[in-house]
Amino acid sequence: MSARRAIPDAATSVASGLPESERTSGAGVSVQESALVLGGTGKSGRRVVERLRAVGRTVRVGSSKGNPPFRWTDPQTWAAVLDEMDAAFIVYSPDIAMPGAPEVIDAFTEQAVAAGVRRLVLLSGQKSEVGLESERRLQDSGADWTILRAAWFNQNFDEGFLREEVCSGRVALPVGDVGEGFIDADDIADVVATVLTRRGHSGAIYELTGPRLLTFAEAIAEIAEATDQEVKYVQISPESYAATLTAQGLSPVAVDRWIYLFTDLMDGRNARVEKGVQQVLGREPRDFTDYARAAAATGIWSSDR
Ligand SMILES: NC(=O)c1ccc[n+]([C@@H]2O[C@H](COP(=O)([O-])OP(=O)(O)OC[C@H]3O[C@@H](n4cnc5c(N)ncnc54)[C@H](OP(=O)(O)O)[C@@H]3O)[C@@H](O)[C@H]2O)c1
Repeated sequence: MSARRAIPDAATSVASGLPESERTSGAGVSVQESALVLGGTGKSGRRVVERLRAVGRTVRVGSSKGNPPFRWTDPQTWAAVLDEMDAAFIVYSPDIAMPGAPEVIDAFTEQAVAAGVRRLVLLSGQKSEVGLESERRLQDSGADWTILRAAWFNQNFDEGFLREEVCSGRVALPVGDVGEGFIDADDIADVVATVLTRRGHSGAIYELTGPRLLTFAEAIAEIAEATDQEVKYVQISPESYAATLTAQGLSPVAVDRWIYLFTDLMDGRNARVEKGVQQVLGREPRDFTDYARAAAATGIWSSDR
């Protein structure tokens, strides 16, 4: 069975929000016709690619497997993907909060603006010192920018690093009883496609969360109910999680950053429901229960149990 679940009416939700007459001209619609989508094979980026193509935009997928290939670690690959693009959706890997990200974002946005790519939309995350510095580098780049600060993606559970643990019946993380505003990657992609195709979002920072807070234990309980399988959440110590990540081959810097993401950033400071989805799309974000039921129906969590 495929590891990817079907995308429910993703493209049409944006396409239908754009009247035919407004897709190529008219008030409210941007003039950018071509867009580079970095991370264009990942959870957020590939959904953005689908939406932009559905409204007739020329899209270049930025990925190490793309043509031409793009690698954050190899600035020699940047010029070719930026060539003749009007806009770019910037998805930094491995994580916007990783040390070194601001410097790379700085160099990339400078090159993008010099290449004539004036419209830049950055996928950011929960407020962290490094993440905020990355945002500042974009703001200082001279580009026409928009920043999207997203909470934890729902899709971490079925398309991301937690899928195998869900399938195993035990999810163990160093996070306690703190609420997270889990957001659906389809909502993020709808927001990205909108800010890239409609005017009025330049210089804006949108905080994107789902409609309610859930603890990890509550999220796992929702998945267990949706799958009718036993899946339990276990809070482990940061030391135990660090040992697991080290055994998986992560570098000490990466291990430290993951621990930081799960401890400092999940101490309650980010336990907030925000209105960014409503501000951009004029509708409510998808609820976690709907996500869990739809993902469970694809069999994604039962395929390798
Ligand atoms: N996941 C979350 O809960 C969450 C929440 C808030 C913010 N974010 C931010 O979202 C970003 C990750 O987005 P995502 O979860 O949508 O992506 P993802 O599913 O983790 O996929 C990563 C994408 O980046 C590409 N990629 C990986 N390494 C690369 C490299 N060295 N050079 C160029 N491309 C590379 C991959 O393409 P190839 O493998 O084809 O090269 C893929 O398209 C991070 O910046 C993170 O801080 C994530």
